Amino acid sequence: MVNRIPSPEDNDMRLPSFVALAALGFAATATAAQPATLEAGRELFVRTWVAWDERAAEGGDGLGPMYNASSCAACHNQGALGGGGGKERNVRLVRPSSETAFFVDHRLSTLSQRPLSASSGTKVERNTPALFGAGLVDSIDDEVLHTLASTQSGDISGRVPTTAEGKVARFGWKGHTASLADFVRTACANELGLAVEGVRQAQPLQPELMDRLVLMQAAVRQQGKKVDLVGGPKRDLSERDVQALTAFVGALPAPAELTRQPGRSEGHALFGKAGCDGCHVQKVAAVDGIYADLLLHDMGRGLADAGSSYQTRGNDKIVAQADSAGMVAHTLSDGSTVRVPAEPGTPVPAADVEWRTPPLWGVRDSSPYLHDGRAATLDDAIRAHGGEAAMSSTAYTSMTLEEQQKLVGFLESLVAPGA
Ligand code: HEC
Ligand code: HEC
Repeated sequence: MVNRIPSPEDNDMRLPSFVALAALGFAATATAAQPATLEAGRELFVRTWVAWDERAAEGGDGLGPMYNASSCAACHNQGALGGGGGKERNVRLVRPSSETAFFVDHRLSTLSQRPLSASSGTKVERNTPALFGAGLVDSIDDEVLHTLASTQSGDISGRVPTTAEGKVARFGWKGHTASLADFVRTACANELGLAVEGVRQAQPLQPELMDRLVLMQAAVRQQGKKVDLVGGPKRDLSERDVQALTAFVGALPAPAELTRQPGRSEGHALFGKAGCDGCHVQKVAAVDGIYADLLLHDMGRGLADAGSSYQTRGNDKIVAQADSAGMVAHTLSDGSTVRVPAEPGTPVPAADVEWRTPPLWGVRDSSPYLHDGRAATLDDAIRAHGGEAAMSSTAYTSMTLEEQQKLVGFLESLVAPGA
């Protein structure tokens, strides 16, 4: 898999224009968005930003000063525009000390091309997921997830992920973000260092360096001209821009299924036989073919990492685990417990062994796999399943080689849209 940073000439990558997609009836959830809005969102998604970009909407400083890549498409491009990304694009989270929260460790600054990553502290990585069908995931009601969780018991018993504010979360490997609009807004600030309303743009490891970075960046640009930095940099994206970008991501078509692939129905049956569908539920509400319950599951110590949230300094809200009556203890595979509120809506952050079941739609075209991209193949990904999924992965490894290949063959029939 080779990642390419799209240039303005190759904006189309492998997808036809969004107007054409809408005409084909793909944009199931974007019916409210006008073609012009989707086109504006697409332009923002593929746009390669630079420092002091002329496109910066409201006196912003453009890309950075801290950033991870200069466009959304630089990371989200596998299979087609909006897809996943290779391991080299993994986002790193760092926790300098046990007293602080995790935050995004930026590798690039517009003032230095040297890597600026933290040299010490706890570091974890996050692999770039595909965004196909994100609008459909966004449309699933809270109630649907609560009902799904209440029907699971015994070995497989997921819980509804919540944000720090107690909202039901649908996005993120740890299930930490409620809505697509919230994720897109945060991605602008965190990944590209674009100032948007409500979220601070990416911060350097030493927060006191921020003002200096912005000033230096301004000096480079202005070459002696007076720069107004009162109140910090202005916004790079207007609210209208953020909405257009969200509409575009929400209109990305859902992945496709190669239904006529030989041996597919046998592979699908084996997927059920191994209990994969206990978590990778085929249909959630009206969303058919998602293969995920979107709930948090204990996946065992082998997959554990403590990066329990995707936070930036300044927006941190470290949630104390409520310890009042009405809490239910939930024992994890390592013997530790998390206390889960009987009342829905009380925020309990994901434990280190807990991950949100990722949708398997489009999975053939989104390698590498798992939250940090450690699994190069689908077979590796299945074998790494532990915790609540241990029985399921044992069922898989106990199959004959031919059966395993059929099951994997079924997964390989789940492909990126237009593939
Ligand atoms: C440096 C690579 C990188 C760039 C640039 C990037 N992303 Fe992402 N994106 C990721 C990673 C990694 C995740 C998973 C984060 C997590 O779950 O903790 C992600 C997750 C997402 C999600 C949530 C998907 C899900 O199913 O949970 C959305 C939506 C998203 N990105 C949109 C965007 C948009 C819009 C942009 C441009 C403003 C963007 N991303 C730029 C790497 C990137
Ligand atoms: C207890 C719930 C559960 C069961 C049962 C389960 N999975 Fe998963 N699966 C998950 C979770 C959670 C993840 C994400 C783990 C991570 O990233 O660390 C995952 C990840 C995956 C991935 C990687 C997806 C990606 O985008 O990286 C594949 C492939 C997969 N599972 C296939 C299977 C198959 C095949 C089975 C049956 C043999 C199975 N799973 C059983 C919960 C489950």
